[in-house]
Amino acid sequence: MSEKNRIVLAYSGGLDTSVAIPYLKERTGKDVVAVSLDVGQGGERLQTIKKRALACGAVESYIVDARDEFASEYCMPALKANAMYEGVYPLVSAISRPLITKHLVRAAHQFGADTIAHGCTGKGNDQVRFEVSIMSIDPTIKAISPIRDLGLMRDVEIAYAKEHDLPIEQTEKSPYSIDQNVWGRAIETGYLEDPWNGPTKDVYSYTDDPAFPPVEDEVTIDFEKGIPVRIDGKEVTPLQAIEEMNQRAGAQGIGRVDLIEDRLVGIKSRELYEAPGAVALITAHQELENCCLEREQHRIKRDIDKRWGELVYDAQWFSPAVRSLNAFIEETQEYVSGRIRMVMHGGRAVVTGRRSDTSLYDYRLATYESGDSFDQDASNGFIEIYGLPDRVAAARDVRFGRGVEVPDQTVE
Ligand code: ARG
Repeated sequence: MSEKNRIVLAYSGGLDTSVAIPYLKERTGKDVVAVSLDVGQGGERLQTIKKRALACGAVESYIVDARDEFASEYCMPALKANAMYEGVYPLVSAISRPLITKHLVRAAHQFGADTIAHGCTGKGNDQVRFEVSIMSIDPTIKAISPIRDLGLMRDVEIAYAKEHDLPIEQTEKSPYSIDQNVWGRAIETGYLEDPWNGPTKDVYSYTDDPAFPPVEDEVTIDFEKGIPVRIDGKEVTPLQAIEEMNQRAGAQGIGRVDLIEDRLVGIKSRELYEAPGAVALITAHQELENCCLEREQHRIKRDIDKRWGELVYDAQWFSPAVRSLNAFIEETQEYVSGRIRMVMHGGRAVVTGRRSDTSLYDYRLATYESGDSFDQDASNGFIEIYGLPDRVAAARDVRFGRGVEVPDQTVE
């Protein structure tokens, strides 16, 4: 097609984006192409979603099973970076938006569209992630949100669905805004907007209640260059590794998070997450890094990991900054290979064993038994020189009456 006059819509199959199909057509005069991805969110089959897209008036429906791509190219980089925004949130939604955008842009090129539409509101991070990702891949494509830009509000939606007889009875409306994929699940809004309201039992679906766990589950995970390749000795793909750990860590209630989070747009928001597989895998990966990374490299990596998480949270997946951090992180994974043993029980994943041919742990240096190869005498000289600046500074403090106070006490 030579003339680009269509809109590509990120289509979930839910109420908002179903109504958006005829609504966008009516308000812009452009035909709508619906794009739907399987990123491991479960729920309806892609074929069912495709049928609904066409029934709602889409001229084309593009569906992709992107689960392996998501696991290998988005979740694995997050694992290598131990990515945890604000120390606890494993970037579930933040890493899916760049992947979805890649497919949206591909569909825009394939079906002759000049605009991409998404169902985000104007208050969240996801609108920024979609649109900054679009700009980074193809800066000629425009972005639009029917909810944010065309007044598609709840009451309008319902009236519109009735009037146009849209086949959306099956699309259940949850009391929460939920986004989920194989890396985890995010739950927000509604009753949870009062930060004092505790989560009700119905909000969780990837995890069981950690207060009533089954018997403990011991697992071994083998990593090669930062990637899980075997679980309990059985070979797994990245997707299988995440899925299996979601099952097993989920059964133990691992990976539940409840926090007030700082959004990119400046709002503080109440968020609940459950990411059992991600949290268990990151716990194991981090411990393997404790063995395999050199001390200074590791200290720098912890800073880099934190910045990576913030930048990816802040919609910078395709940015030069993240690309450069990726190069550093990738290099550090060269020796991150070996086996981690972990016990999962009652909400916690605790590493109990580690073994690696590329570890820097040296028994002969560490041991207090005989066979010690560490020269303890050398520590005298080390401390003498290492402590020299403190000794000189302390002498000056004493001269000026500012030394560390030691209470004068006579012992009877
Ligand atoms: N606050 C999280 C983030 O920015 C989760 C967003 C979830 N999105 C949603 N539409 N419920 O990554």
